[in-house]
Amino acid sequence: MKIFIETYGCQMNVADSELVSTILQDNKFQITKNVKEADVIIFNTCSVRQNAEDRVMGRISNEMSRKSKQNLKIGVIGCMAQRLQDKLHEMNKEIDFVVGVDQYKQIPEIIENLFEKNTTFQEATLVNNDEIYKDLYPHRGGELNAFVTIMRGCNNFCSYCIVPHTRGRERSRPLNDILKEVEIAGKNGFKDVTLLGQNVNSYFFEGTNFAQLLRNINNIKTIERVRFVTSHPKDLSDEVISAMAECNKVCEHLHLAMQSGDNDILAKMNRGYTAEHYLNIVKKLRKAMPEIAITTDIIAGFPGETEEQFQKTYDLMEKVEFDYAFTFKYSPRKGTKAAEFTNQIDENVRLERLQRLIKLQESITLKKYKEQIGKIKDIYVEKISKKSDLEVAGKSRDFKITVFEGDKSLIGQFVKVKIIDAVGWTLKGKIIK
Ligand code: SAH
Ligand code: SF4
Ligand code: F3S
Repeated sequence: MKIFIETYGCQMNVADSELVSTILQDNKFQITKNVKEADVIIFNTCSVRQNAEDRVMGRISNEMSRKSKQNLKIGVIGCMAQRLQDKLHEMNKEIDFVVGVDQYKQIPEIIENLFEKNTTFQEATLVNNDEIYKDLYPHRGGELNAFVTIMRGCNNFCSYCIVPHTRGRERSRPLNDILKEVEIAGKNGFKDVTLLGQNVNSYFFEGTNFAQLLRNINNIKTIERVRFVTSHPKDLSDEVISAMAECNKVCEHLHLAMQSGDNDILAKMNRGYTAEHYLNIVKKLRKAMPEIAITTDIIAGFPGETEEQFQKTYDLMEKVEFDYAFTFKYSPRKGTKAAEFTNQIDENVRLERLQRLIKLQESITLKKYKEQIGKIKDIYVEKISKKSDLEVAGKSRDFKITVFEGDKSLIGQFVKVKIIDAVGWTLKGKIIK
């Protein structure tokens, strides 16, 4: 039986899809990359903004037309499954099963029931704040970056955010499981590893904190590079900054969500830091690692955000000069605190503010990328370039996609490349012999 998995949302979901693939393969199911030959389509979904949910519901409608011609089953897993549970089946009767984020081990049995016992709708959405998928090591395929989950859930309850409601409480994975998974990934050729969690800085397992975890991972011989997402400005300690600077495999790259540049808004978001604190961390990071690339997330139009408060976000973005920023229009999520605030901002205002942020960041990103011209960078070659068979693409330590002349024999190698141009968010280079 062939299963196709379509993934939405953050890297946690990308990693979870690999986990689910592994669970299925261990139970004699086949994973296919061709949706047309699938007997089961699983949508691994995201609830973070309304449009993420709308997109998936649209995709399910597209695929379900085939159900009249073949015995196709459709499943929804991930954050939407956790949030909406059996309501999903009410929204679309063609959904055959719904499985929440802590119940993935049940998927094989659920699929068997649907096909062999001809059961109708199946649901497994129980929250289990202990589930950490211990002893499961994903079979990886495709791209040469490995995503390794180090913790699940989140305890922060930022007032706009659905994640703590869908992912449950924070729990850290055992240190030895993580070390083993990283080592295996490296042995299988995945030299660039990204550690995943909603707030990796608060990793803590039997006396080992995040900085110590980084130092442990730095000693693993099979890998060359380590990154991690996501960090929280309230928990990014000096100890972590020192570990980053001292560990040669930890890349000069940090994603640090700022969300807003206004202290009142930050407080209403329940973020637990001020704009001054954020700027201070940026300064420390750049002092410890002058070449560090810093990327961020920003929300425009949080409830009650005045034009002046928005301007503070704009000004702080201008001041920090992020290498890249993911900017979002605030989207009210039912069940979160901010959705109950009565001073919601008009949709058009949110959109207009978002557009100003996008425009600002475009010019900063271009400037940052142009500054790379003339530099020599270590590139981890990941694939043949999308645009030309004569070129390959890879990433620098500071997470910049770099394209240059080369063939597939370079894939998986580290090469030195001189940067000759910057086009949008891509660097162009020339390999140095
Ligand atoms: N744990 C990560 C964020 C996960 S969600 C962190 O704290 O950095 C990714 C991003 O989506 C958030 O950083 C935030 O900028 C954005 N986001 C979350 N909820 C949102 C909402 N309701 N509306 C708009 N953007 C939102
Ligand atoms: Fe959401 Fe905040 Fe947790 Fe990030 S830290 S997942 S933004 S609640
Ligand atoms: Fe989305 Fe869930 Fe990730 S809501 S951002 S897939 S944790």
